[in-house]
Amino acid sequence: MKKKIIFSGIQPTGLLTIGNYIGALSQWKKLQKKYFCIYCIADLHALTIFQKKNMLSNNILDVLSICLASGINPKKSIIFIQSHVPQHTQLNWILNCFTNFGAIRRMTQFKEKIYLNKNINVGLFNYPILMAADILLYQTYKIPVGKDQIQHIELVRDIANRFNNIYGKKIFTIPKKKLHENYGSCIMSLLSPIKKMSKSDNNKNNIITLFDNDLTIRKKIQYAITDSDNPPNIKFDLKNKPGISNLLIILSNITEISIQKLECNFNNKNYYDLKEFVINNLCLFLNKLRKKFFFYRQNEILLKSIIIDGAQKAEKYAKITLEKVYNTIGLDI
Ligand code: TRP
Repeated sequence: MKKKIIFSGIQPTGLLTIGNYIGALSQWKKLQKKYFCIYCIADLHALTIFQKKNMLSNNILDVLSICLASGINPKKSIIFIQSHVPQHTQLNWILNCFTNFGAIRRMTQFKEKIYLNKNINVGLFNYPILMAADILLYQTYKIPVGKDQIQHIELVRDIANRFNNIYGKKIFTIPKKKLHENYGSCIMSLLSPIKKMSKSDNNKNNIITLFDNDLTIRKKIQYAITDSDNPPNIKFDLKNKPGISNLLIILSNITEISIQKLECNFNNKNYYDLKEFVINNLCLFLNKLRKKFFFYRQNEILLKSIIIDGAQKAEKYAKITLEKVYNTIGLDI
């Protein structure tokens, strides 16, 4: 039987955090077993915030190397750069014309971005319609995403349904969201574990990046907020014990030991013991990941060949859908 299609994207902006790894990359890796996976480095989406030329091209190669180091296998899955497959922008324009202005204006991420941003360009507004093109080009079955993208996926479904209904044909598969497992999209800030860990956080003590060295990791975890329960209580409880729960989620995801088992192992232990265990495992884990990262990052010839191969494979699928769309709307002369 043909495998169902998974599609997801990641923006090549800035240093990735352990949250990005657990929330996206580790999940992407696992999905390769059961699905045919297509992963996109969304460089066009990154342009919605001004990017310096050299930074952008470096970031693209960094993110690609991290994906490969995390176990995305380009022989099994497709990994490609969005701007290398022109059908994304072509379909984007067509979908613009099938998207309701009011619906986009309601996107909470857009509202937040215009509130925070000085550079309010039209790309920010169009952002979810480019996501729709990304997803719909590949007849995607499911999209692994974090909670912050749910509204965008609902919009993509609406656009696809509207298009199919207008023409009375099933041109696009209606995709479904796939939320991360093992609380993967709930990696929180270390100092205020009620907000999400974000790579753009100004206080770097809130985040663990994939490039923090052992000493930095030790300091950051030592500072991480827990609680003042007496006696100390290592239990998973997102509502009442967000700091401890956050450490348990991180630990569980990098060690693949279940949260329940961890609770058992740390029964009657104190927070110092838990933190030491987190520190040791994070250091071990990140050192291994970095070794693999540098292997790829230093081999630009290999990276370039993966990039060319990925674009060719992706384009083969993208072309089929775009041609169907052209034929359907009357652009087939
Ligand atoms: N907007 C997504 C993010 O920042 C990245 C992305 C681009 C994406 N295209 C996509 C995610 C298509 C899922 C599907 O997280």
